[in-house]
Amino acid sequence: MIYYFSGTGNSYAAAKTLAEGLGEDLMDIAIAVQDENYAHTLAEGEKLGFVFPVYAWAPPKVVTDFVKNLELYYSGDPYIFAVCTCGASAGKTMDTFEKALEENGLALDSGFSLVMPDNCITLFEVDSDEEVAEKFEKADKTLKNILRAIQLGWSDFFRVKKGKFSGILSGVVSPVFAMSAMKTKPFYVTDACISCGLCEQICTSGCIEMTTGRPVWTEDTCHMCLACINRCPAKAIQYGKKTEKRGRYVHPIYQTKEIGE
Ligand SMILES: Cc1cc2nc3c(=O)[nH]c(=O)nc-3n(C[C@H](O)[C@H](O)[C@H](O)COP(=O)(O)O)c2cc1C
Ligand code: SF4
Ligand code: SF4
Repeated sequence: MIYYFSGTGNSYAAAKTLAEGLGEDLMDIAIAVQDENYAHTLAEGEKLGFVFPVYAWAPPKVVTDFVKNLELYYSGDPYIFAVCTCGASAGKTMDTFEKALEENGLALDSGFSLVMPDNCITLFEVDSDEEVAEKFEKADKTLKNILRAIQLGWSDFFRVKKGKFSGILSGVVSPVFAMSAMKTKPFYVTDACISCGLCEQICTSGCIEMTTGRPVWTEDTCHMCLACINRCPAKAIQYGKKTEKRGRYVHPIYQTKEIGE
């Protein structure tokens, strides 16, 4: 079983490639959390994987909460791996994730980071087309190596690009982000909205509701996956003052994926 969380498709694309290579099933963490679906049984020899984005040099809170709540039934000693996708570097994301797993009595055999296009348009401009193409090319190669390491069952094997100042970024900046930057208040919708309802359907927190043809954010905080703002086909969703001039990023796989697939 491979559990994934993804706002704009990078982590989903990586999880799908690994699931196909390993012959494992995929499960969306956002949907499992909304359904309170935590009890799962692993078959004999089934591998257990987690794929998710890096948010402020840490795993998304929804992901660590999910693994703490997981109720797994298995026999033997399943192989456990994790892959975090990031725009540049992961800091101590994998260490934090490992601790969350350990709280549930589970131990990671291997952990990897995978650099992919950056979707954090609330803070930065999107990568250029050239940068996106270069990242995809490198990520394809890295993912093949990750798949091979998992197929071979390598244990105590970690390949994570922590980047500079990982201690400060993950230890100091990350908790501040968790407390302050997940607020929905700065979201607003412009007259460009065509009332398609996509934002409501794809919100990983389930906190967008279409009211009189326009999206309304019904909670004060959300997972901050940035699916709504990046995937709106009319570029009608904005966050604060800076996003109007910025581009949008969606992995090609999310252009064709059916909602709920
Ligand atoms: C709220 C937020 C915080 C982010 N923080 C980081 C970060 O600390 N380091 C990094 O390299 N990328 C960061 N990113 C970029 C994403 O980790 C990256 O684009 C990821 O592949 C997106 O995955 P997804 O398409 O599966 O949602 C951040 C993105 C978001 C939305
Ligand atoms: S996705 Fe964009 S266009 Fe569609 S309803 Fe939401 S804001 Fe409007
Ligand atoms: S409101 Fe937007 S950013 Fe927040 S969880 Fe929903 S889709 Fe993601």
